[in-house]
Amino acid sequence: MVNVSVLGAAGGIGQPLSLLLKTNEQVGVLKLYDIVNVPGVAADLSHVNTNSTVYSYLGSEKLGEALEGADIVIIPAGVPRKPGMTRDDLFKINAGIVRDLAVGIAKTCPKAFVLVISNPVNSTVPIVCEILKKYGVFDPKRVFGVTTLDVVRASRFIRDVIPDVDSFATSVPVIGGHSGNTIVPLLSAVQPKVQLTETQIEEITHRIQFGGDEVVKAKDGAGSATLSMAYAASRFANSLIKAFSGALVIEPTYISLDADPKNASIVRNLGAGDLQYFAVPVRLGTNGVEEIVPLPPVSKFEAKAIEVAVGALSENIVAGTKFVQ
Ligand code: APR
Repeated sequence: MVNVSVLGAAGGIGQPLSLLLKTNEQVGVLKLYDIVNVPGVAADLSHVNTNSTVYSYLGSEKLGEALEGADIVIIPAGVPRKPGMTRDDLFKINAGIVRDLAVGIAKTCPKAFVLVISNPVNSTVPIVCEILKKYGVFDPKRVFGVTTLDVVRASRFIRDVIPDVDSFATSVPVIGGHSGNTIVPLLSAVQPKVQLTETQIEEITHRIQFGGDEVVKAKDGAGSATLSMAYAASRFANSLIKAFSGALVIEPTYISLDADPKNASIVRNLGAGDLQYFAVPVRLGTNGVEEIVPLPPVSKFEAKAIEVAVGALSENIVAGTKFVQ
C-alpha cells in the first residue's frame, strides 16, 4: 500500500487528481492539504467506496502532519496561468509556494518521491532539488517534474491528424522542458510508427508546445488546464506505483540528469549539453528513476528544436536555482 499526499488538493488540478488517486486501490492513505476549502473536498471524496482512507489538512501549520508517512508527494499548489501570462510569469508567486512546501518535505518525509506540477516546472523542479540539497536529503532519482501532459497531448494530437491511430496505445518521447518551445516532441520516434508529412510534423510539434494556450484562451480568464493535467498526473503517479511492484514502466519526465549520469551522456550528446535538468523517458522502479532510456538519433528538425529549447531552458534552470541560493 502506498501513502500519497497532495499539496494544493482543493484546486482545479488538485480535486480531479485526488479523485483519480482515490480510484487507485494501491493507495492506502490519501492526505489532502491546502490553505483553503480542503475539508469539504476530503469529506466528499471520503464517501467514494474504494479502500483508501482520506484525510484533510487545512493551513500551513498542518503541513507537517499532511506529509507524515508520505511515500509520494504530489504538488499542484500555486496559482494558475491567466490569459496573457506565460508559465514564466507565474514564477515569482509559485516559486515561493513550492520552496516552502519543499522545506516541509525535507523535514518530514525526505525519502518521499516528489511529483512537481506547479508551473513553471522548468524552474520549480530545480527549486525543490536545491532545497532538498540544502537539507542534505536530495536524491535525484526521486524528484520528478510531471511532463506527462505533453506526452498525452502528443498522442492525442497525432490522432487528430491520423484518425486510425490508437491514441491510448501510442507512445511519444517528449523531451526538453515543460513550456512553449522548451518542449521537444520526438515525432520521428513515435511507437507504433506513424507516417507524418513535414508540414504535419511542424504543425503537431507547435500544437504540443503551445497546447496549454488553447485551454487558457478557451477558459477566458478562469485558469489553465486542470482536467487533462489531473489525468496526466494521475497517469504518472499510477505508473510509479505500478513500478514499485516490479512492472516495467517508462514515462518521460523532467529530472536532474544526475539521476543516471551514464545514460545522461546520450542526452547531452543529442544537444542538452551541460544542462542540469532535462525531460527524458525514464524507466521507473522501486528507487524512482532506474535509468534514462537511451534515445534514438533525432531528425534535423528535432535537433534544431533541441537547440532552441536548450537556450530557454537554461535560463529557467538558473532562475529556479538562484531563487534558493
Ligand atoms: N500551500 C498549499 N496550497 C496552496 C498554496 C500553499 N502555499 N498556495 C495556493 N495553494 C492552493 C490554492 O489554495 C488552490 O486550491 O493551490 C490550489 C491551486 O489551485 P488553482 O488555483 O485552481 O490552480 P490550478 O489550475 O489547479 O493550477 C495549479 O498547477 O499546472 C499548474 O500552472 C498551474 O501552477 C499552477 C498549478
